[in-house]
Amino acid sequence: MSIADKVTRTLAELGTDPAALYSELGELFDGELRQAGAPEDVKHLRDRWLGRKQGLLTAANDHWLKAAGREIKPAVGKLQNTLKTRIEQAMEAASGRTQTARAEPPLDITLPGPVRIIGARHPVGIVLDEIEEIFRSMGYSVYEGPEIESDYYNFEALNFPEHHPARDAMDTIFLTDRMLLRTHTSPCQIRIMEKQRPPLRYIVPGKVYRHDAPDASHSPMFHQVEGFAVDEKISFCDLKGTLDHFLKRLFGPTVRTRFRASFFPFTEPSAEVDVSCIFCGGSGCRVCKHTGFIEVLGCGMIDPAVYGYVGYDPERYSGFAFGMGVDRVAMLRYDINDIQLLFQGDARFLSQFR
Ligand code: DAH
Repeated sequence: MSIADKVTRTLAELGTDPAALYSELGELFDGELRQAGAPEDVKHLRDRWLGRKQGLLTAANDHWLKAAGREIKPAVGKLQNTLKTRIEQAMEAASGRTQTARAEPPLDITLPGPVRIIGARHPVGIVLDEIEEIFRSMGYSVYEGPEIESDYYNFEALNFPEHHPARDAMDTIFLTDRMLLRTHTSPCQIRIMEKQRPPLRYIVPGKVYRHDAPDASHSPMFHQVEGFAVDEKISFCDLKGTLDHFLKRLFGPTVRTRFRASFFPFTEPSAEVDVSCIFCGGSGCRVCKHTGFIEVLGCGMIDPAVYGYVGYDPERYSGFAFGMGVDRVAMLRYDINDIQLLFQGDARFLSQFR
């Protein structure tokens, strides 16, 4: 008769030494415990041995201990308790083992480590920083003004007459009758001059807005850097020298600069500045449209009419101003052929710049 059957009989029926029965029962348990590897096995073992109704140990308690005669009951109780404690402790240890086995899979040191995504600099930010650094080294300060601007600062005080066609050319985005999104960074010339006296040397980087349909060379928002210097005895020579130095530092010492006469309402005389093509060196290519030069700046001597709006004496002070598109410089520098790429936030594009 198997020991599993024996627990369903009383000691009197079996007529065997209780100690031998308990030790046989303990051996059965030990054997089954050795087979139990998975958490499900351990749970099954717990039911089989400690289950309230069918458990083998419970059966031993009911048939052996409870039914034992008075004279052997204390000894049987001791055997029962000893085995019970041993089984419970073994179950405890076994379930702890299988739990930790599940929680911590073995460490695979050949797995690749987690990839950290590192951001890159925006090409416009890189170029802006460089421009700032070049002008700081020449004693210029940096000023930033509001993007929502009034008609007065954006046009009137910059000597744009009320119904002048130069206003239409700016493709202004109006917010109300008199308020608008600035079309250029030039209004900051006025904001600075009306608060401070010369000598002044400032650059103004920032976003500007125009009512333009987006295409490869147009964006309704883009970046400019304005710059100006006002002092006694500033001449067109200072303007040329400053911009020539700046452009050589920005594009490289071999570029040549060219000043062409132009018109802006707030400068007189005015000029546009070209650099020799940084791709072909001036011999003519796709980028410079075979002219050998690329236009990069507008500039001029500040028109005396502008000084009238800020209360400067035009007999005493003179100065120059210039403005440039930063996005275009970034596009030239990195050979980017579509301005839209700068503002679409495509990580595949943006991650290329450091
Ligand atoms: N504000 C002009 C524009 O957006 C650029 C410019 C031209 C700025 C000549 C200047 C300047 O300061 O002197 O088109």
